[in-house]
This record gives sequence, structure tokens and C-alpha cells, in this order.
Amino acid sequence: MTKLIKNIGQLLQVRDDTTALRDKEMHKLPLIENAYLVIDKGIISDYGSMSELTSIDAEIIDAGGRIVMPSWTDSHTHLVFAASRAGEFVDKINGLTYEQIAKRGGGILNSAKKMADISEDELYEKSAELLNEVMQYGTGAIEIKSGYGLSLDTELKMLRVIKRLKQNFPIPIKATFLGAHAVPETYQNDKKGYIDLIINEMIPAIARDNLANYIDVFCEKGYFTAEETDQILQAGVRYGLKPKVHVNQFNSIGGVEVAVKHHAVSVDHLEVMTQSDFDILEHSNTIATALPACSFFIDIPYALVKPMIDKNIAVALATDFNPGSTPSFNMNFAVSLACIKQKLTPEQAINAATLNAAAALELANEMGSITRGKKARLMMLKNFIKDYKEIPYYFATNPVSEIFF
Ligand code: NIG
Ligand code: FE
Repeated sequence: MTKLIKNIGQLLQVRDDTTALRDKEMHKLPLIENAYLVIDKGIISDYGSMSELTSIDAEIIDAGGRIVMPSWTDSHTHLVFAASRAGEFVDKINGLTYEQIAKRGGGILNSAKKMADISEDELYEKSAELLNEVMQYGTGAIEIKSGYGLSLDTELKMLRVIKRLKQNFPIPIKATFLGAHAVPETYQNDKKGYIDLIINEMIPAIARDNLANYIDVFCEKGYFTAEETDQILQAGVRYGLKPKVHVNQFNSIGGVEVAVKHHAVSVDHLEVMTQSDFDILEHSNTIATALPACSFFIDIPYALVKPMIDKNIAVALATDFNPGSTPSFNMNFAVSLACIKQKLTPEQAINAATLNAAAALELANEMGSITRGKKARLMMLKNFIKDYKEIPYYFATNPVSEIFF
């Protein structure tokens, strides 16, 4: 049935773009005040100012002055995990850093132990519960990574759970294979053996069963070098997996260059950047994805996204939701942090979390803006939010009252 949403206080992000915004376009958040919007079979078929509305046969939803806008896209999460790591949270409060916790057997290897033991059904139930929650916060498309399996069987288990989520949830879900998240305990003295396993067994099996869209590597000191990242990405690309890569979280070790060489859709984190990293991104189509809620939780520097935008680099925002470095899936909080800590304007931050975030999942042709013909993946905000600047301003709240998908 056709739906008409009328009396929209502000209809946000009204534009025809189907690719990531850059530079000056990031400063603009085109809107219509006192607007209507028509959804026909899940597609935005019309919109405009209330004064232009002619009578149509439709189910009517009265927004009563509330804001309507595109859903967030969360383009970087590790939503499928077996258990929280709240114990490490307390270690962190008591003074240990993320790196020190990992060295003591915590961190990713801690999650991997729990992942090995959980049944596939229980893992699915836990993940589905979280994804339901995530959607209530306005996320209308999401990427989910493997990477807590670190063995052929357990990586496949995680990816099958993501596939089941894809089948059962109404929003687009993209799966990323992150076998190279850490070297598992059984390969501690044989990293090359683990990389061979990723390249020769995991990637072919995943491609055969069509279990992933993207390939990721944690390119970082103590994890995978730029050279190893190069090999793994190359193998992934050969099997049709496009790179989306964890780079420059704690150190700049050449990950940006390698990722861009393999035409990565995005490079994510970017807390520590050299001039050459900036220059490489400036001349690429790779999207720079910042994860400010991760910086907040583990208390590390925030990615310098403002100068990136000024350099014409396409910038997106995501949560990095995971049990170790970012136990939050609140996209609005990430948007607030981008404003408060990274000094993006509300316009820039909202662009980065809607259209550019959709582009970071290759979905900008179908969502991320109010455009005729795009999918009506939208959200209506709560009544107390009267202007879009109040979205990041009311930080750490959930501004969403209703979702459409
Ligand atoms: O993006 N940096 C690597 N991976 C995650 C953290 C994973 C974990 O600690 O479980 C991140 O921060
Ligand atoms: Fe991550």
C-alpha cells in the first residue's frame, strides 16, 4: 500500500547524489521544511513542500512536525560475537591499555576462545537480538565482520550466522571476511602457516559458498604487516572480495597504501596518519571511515577527518561495534563524537553517516538520501528534536521514534 507521511517538520538530506560527497558538498544538508513524502512499494516515489501536496490515495502517517531523514548506515561492525568482554573493561579502568590487555591473552584471542565454544544457533540468537536493538537506533544497513573464529570452521560458522541474519532481517547486511584479525594461539609460532591457511583454504571456501562481500585485514604492529596485508587482499580480490581494511589504528605501517593499491572500498580507523597517507587518500576513490566511538572507549586519538574533508577525501562514519574496543552500536553517538571531538559540523557528520556511509557499503545508489527511486530506508525522529543540529547535540540519546525499511 502507498504511504504518505505528511507534516514533516524537516525532511533532511534531499538530494539526487548516488556517490559519496566530498569537500564543499559535505557542508550542505539540503532540506525541505514542512514537507510530505510518499512511499510506494518501499520506494520513495515523491516528496515536496506541504503547500504542493495534492490529494492521493494512501495510508496517511502524520509526522506532526517531526524530522524525517535517511537511516544511518553502519559500515563497520563486529556485531557477531559470543560474549562481552566486560572483564577487560574493568582492567582498562584499572589502568591497562588495549594493547596491554591483548598481550595478556585478552582482546581478540579472548573473543576467539569464546567463539570456538558457542553453538551456531546460540550465536545466531545472540546476534539477532543485538541486530533488533541496532535497528531501533536508526541503522538501516549494516556491515558485519567475521574475525573471531580464526580457524576455517569457526570463521565459516560466523559467516553462516551473518548469512542467516541477511535472510531474516529486512535491512541490507554486507558480510566481511576478517580471518586476518589476529594470529590464533595454535599458530603463534607459525604466522606464515596461518596466512597460508587464510589464502589457500579460507578464502576459496568462503567464495565457494558465497559467504562474504568484502575482505578485511587488521594491518597493525603485532597483527599483520603491510606486506602480509598485500598478500591477503590480493588473494581476496582474486576471489571477488573487495577490500575494506583496518588501518592506522595505533601505527601507520603502510596499510593505507596497500589498501588503495587494491582499490579498497574503504580504509577504516585512521587514528594515526602520516602526510603520505593523506596524499594517497587524496588521490583515490577509497572512502576514509572514522570510528570515533572506538577512540572514545579505548581512549586513543580521534581520526583527523576535518582536514581529510578539506583535502577532498570522502569521509564516512561508523560505530565499530564490537565487544573489545567499542561496545556501542549507537550511530547517533558516533555522529555526536564526530562533531564534539573531530569538529565536523552537524551537516558534515550527518552526511558522513548517511550518504557517505551508504557509499562505504556500495549502497549509495539505493539509499542514504531522499531521492525519488531510492529505497525508503528512513527514520522519523522523536518530537523533542526540532532541528537537525539537535541530532548530534543531544549526544548519547536515541533520537529515533520510528523506522521505515
Ligand atoms: O576495530 N582493531 C581491531 N579490531 C577491532 C577490535 C576488535 C576487538 O578488540 O575485539 C576494532 O577496534
Ligand atoms: Fe573494527
